[in-house]
This record gives sequence, C-alpha cells and structure tokens, in this order.
Amino acid sequence: MVYLIKHENARSWLNFARNKEMKNVTVIGAGTMGNGIAHVFALGGFRVVLCDISPVALEKALSTIDRNMNRMIEKQKITQEAKDSALSNLTTNTLIAEAVREADLVVEAATENIELKLNIFRKIDQHSPSHALLATNTSSISITKIAGVTSRPSQVIGMHFMNPVPVMKLVEVIRGFSTSDEVCHTIMELSRKLEKTPVEVNDYPGFVSNRILMTMINEAIYTLYEGVGNVSEIDGIMKWGMAHPMGPLQLADFIGLDVCLSILKVIHDGFGNPKYAPCPLLVNMVNAGQLGVKTGAGFYLHKGHGQELEVNPKFAHLLS
Ligand code: CAA
Repeated sequence: MVYLIKHENARSWLNFARNKEMKNVTVIGAGTMGNGIAHVFALGGFRVVLCDISPVALEKALSTIDRNMNRMIEKQKITQEAKDSALSNLTTNTLIAEAVREADLVVEAATENIELKLNIFRKIDQHSPSHALLATNTSSISITKIAGVTSRPSQVIGMHFMNPVPVMKLVEVIRGFSTSDEVCHTIMELSRKLEKTPVEVNDYPGFVSNRILMTMINEAIYTLYEGVGNVSEIDGIMKWGMAHPMGPLQLADFIGLDVCLSILKVIHDGFGNPKYAPCPLLVNMVNAGQLGVKTGAGFYLHKGHGQELEVNPKFAHLLS
C-alpha cells in the first residue's frame, strides 16, 4: 500500500514536470532564512506564499524584504518595476494546510529542531498536491530522515541557502538516499533560474558546507580557548591572510552560537569522531546565553546597525 502511494506520487510529479512549469512556491518559516528565500523566489518570477504561525513574524519578514529590495534598487541591481512585480507575487498565510494547497514546491525554513521539522513535513505531505517537491533548508538534519516521514521520499531534497540569501550565490543541493535524479536535476535548474550557483552533494552529517565551516569555526574557538590568539587576531588572520569577508569568530556570532553548537553536535554524533567535539568555550557561551548578534553579545558586542564591532570584554584579559 505504502509502495503504491509512493509510486503514485512519483508518477504525478513526472507528469507535472513533463507538461508544466513550476510556478507556485510556498516557503515555511519567516525568519532570516525564510524571508531571504521568499525574496529570491519572488524576484525570480514565482508566485510565493510565505507561511509562519506568527503574524508578527510575517509582518517583520515583509518589512525586511521591502528594505532589502530597496537596498538592491539603490545599488542598481534591480529596478523599481522588478520589486513591484515581485511584491505583487508574494502573499502570506499562517496555516500550513492552506499555504501549501497549490504548491509545486515547498521550501521549509523553520527553526532547526528535528521534531518540529518532522511534524511540518508530515503536514506538508498531507496537504500539498501529490506532484509537489518538498525541500528543506536544514543546515544539518538528515534529508533522508525527513523524507522518511513523507509518502514521497523520492521528491524530498535539501536546498541549503546561505545567509544573507539575496547576496550569497551558493545553494547546496542535498540528495537524500531516495531522492530521484529527475528531482535533483529540476532543483539544480530551478536554483540557476534564481541566479544562484547550485552544488550537488550527498546526505551525510553536516553535508559539505557545514562539515567544513563548523570545523573551522570550532578550531578558531579552540585557538581562543587555548590562548593561542585573541578574538581580533584570530579573525584578522583569516580576513587578511585567507581573504574571508569576516573572520570565523565574527561569522559564528552572525550565524548564532547556539546554531553552531547544534550543527557540531550533529556532525560529532553522526561520525562519532572526537575531532568534531564542540569546544568547551562554545558550550559555556551557549549556556550563558551569549549567542552572538541575536542576543547582542558573543565573541563581540553587537550594539546595533552601523555601530563599530567591539570585542566582548570577557576576553579582554587575553588582550595583552
Ligand atoms: N539583502 C540584499 N543585499 C544585501 C543584504 C541583504 N540582506 N546584505 C548585504 N547586502 C549587500 C549590500 O547591499 C552590499 O552590496 P554591494 O556589494 O553591491 O555594495 C553587499 O551585500 C555587501 O554588504 P555590506 O557592504 O553591507 O557589508 P559587507 O561588505 O560587510 O558584507 C556580508 C556583508 C555579505 C554579510 C559579508 O560580510 C559576508 O559575505 N560574510 C560572510 C557570510 C557567510 O559566510 N555566510 C554564510 C553563513 S553560513 C550559512 O548561512 C549556512 C549555515 O548553515 C550556517
């Protein structure tokens, strides 16, 4: 019976793919990643429904999208007409069942919590058309595991965008164990239509992006923890020596130290290799609620837009 449903869904998707163009995209979650993803799909000419249980989060997301599109107009990257057309294609909804009803593609960008994501995928699977592709923007949770709670695992895939989504070129396209070749090909093509550069990888802990990035960030935190260098020196070395736009400690603050810790735990648990063990300093900072930009303090103090970054005085004793 389960096999028949899976087979039926896959046939429905292939039928759709042969005869129609993908037009309707639903983005679940209106946080930093969700609003950025809705922004790029709306500018790419898709009809977008942005869905979040919180009306306040939706309001905030719309004003962020408006501000970021104005920024792009000022930099002459898009025209006023392109912005108007994108915004006219963008609606919001607080109910998943309604938001996904006409979706050709759903991109989930909710909080990085496995139970939450599995529940969302059960709901999306139940209420979206059988031809719809289901993507997740997870930064570390197994695509195969998420696909396993749906009746269409061959149509489930990872679309891992980078923050800030309107600026960063990469979409890490992650094939789950059962993702079909056709679905993968479609998502690669779709990402190119968004003027992104997609790169295809397989579903193992941390995929490629975060397995490398989080290991670097963790190692940077270890060099601070061991007193090899202080915050400014460690970041300066990577900025001026390796041409990174921001140093690893500033980037960790930007991503969120809680997010970094949770991704490292997935990689550490997934491979069982001590080289991925999160640095005790990172664990302490998360326990202390110093999570980076979102709480105003991490390796740096973040005092708001346009303000100079200042190293967290907690590390001042290492400055001499
Ligand atoms: N929307 C639209 N445009 C934006 C934007 C946004 N949200 N944020 C920045 N920009 C644009 C600016 O207008 C500016 O455009 P121009 O180059 O045409 O002038 C450009 O981006 C650079 O912005 P700023 O001048 O304001 O600031 P900056 O030069 O310091 O760059 C940055 C900011 C792009 C964030 C840069 O510091 C950077 O690339 N940092 C690293 C980001 C990174 O590594 N992201 C990946 C994080 S990991 C992740 O997301 C995945 C995960 O799973 C953890």
